[in-house]
Amino acid sequence: MNITIGNEYQADPHAGEIKIRLENEDDRYPVEVLTREAFWNLYRPGCDEHYTAHVIRSHEDFLPDLTFVAEVDMQIVGSIMFTRSWVIDELGKKVETATFGPLCVHPAWQRRGVGSALIEHARKLAAQKGYPAILILGDPHNYCRHGFRTGKDMGVSMLDGRYPLGLLVLELRPGFFASGQPWKLQTSAAYEFETAQVEAYDARFPPKEKKFQYSQELFSMLVRAVVE
Ligand SMILES: CC(C)(COP(=O)(O)OP(=O)(O)OC[C@H]1O[C@@H](n2cnc3c(N)ncnc32)[C@H](O)[C@@H]1OP(=O)(O)O)[C@@H](O)C(=O)NCCC(=O)NCCS
Repeated sequence: MNITIGNEYQADPHAGEIKIRLENEDDRYPVEVLTREAFWNLYRPGCDEHYTAHVIRSHEDFLPDLTFVAEVDMQIVGSIMFTRSWVIDELGKKVETATFGPLCVHPAWQRRGVGSALIEHARKLAAQKGYPAILILGDPHNYCRHGFRTGKDMGVSMLDGRYPLGLLVLELRPGFFASGQPWKLQTSAAYEFETAQVEAYDARFPPKEKKFQYSQELFSMLVRAVVE
């Protein structure tokens, strides 16, 4: 696969169309390299999202039919990966929903519509497959323009009853959340792992310097913020 790593990777202003296609087995390492580049030092010194990508693929909750790469001129420049999640009502009724993460675009290709194209493509497919909603934990800045709304306004909390700022809901089946009945989101256990496992896995990749960036401070505020 023709993907260049790190600073050598230059966006070509004459590049062709963005092509979205399903991720296949050959894409696995290039996608992890891309994911590491996109997240490195963004939310913490280093990152764990490339390990997340690695572990969710073999997890029972992985949704390969909704996991896409974006290609420009045969180079993978973006990735969106999905797992199943659930919303649970007060009577214990559990409805399967879809959750994405990691979502990333190579830094050289950001702000050109690749991320939006991945979200829109996956949204259409998830709706066709009958999922009532996509629920994520992410930065609202990236998602509100795609129609995501705060969990608080949709009546969806985390299992512990909190409404984190990052809990975002995109209704696919119109009116699914309209009754106002409360739901709780259960995300996949695929996202739960130990830091030591990340460190060991990261050693397989070329060395990269871990350092502080102010985006980490913003992220630490985001993950603690709740909606009243
Ligand atoms: C978040 C992320 C996936 C978005 O991907 P992207 O390809 O940059 O997204 P888009 O280009 O569709 O949109 C990003 C911005 O560029 C703007 N944009 C899109 N096409 C553009 C163009 N041709 N010219 C100028 N701006 C453009 C969008 O309006 C949007 O603006 P906004 O930030 O003011 O809302 C990407 O920035 C990324 O990988 N970040 C690091 C990893 C990460 O944080 N992932 C999400 C975890 S919550």
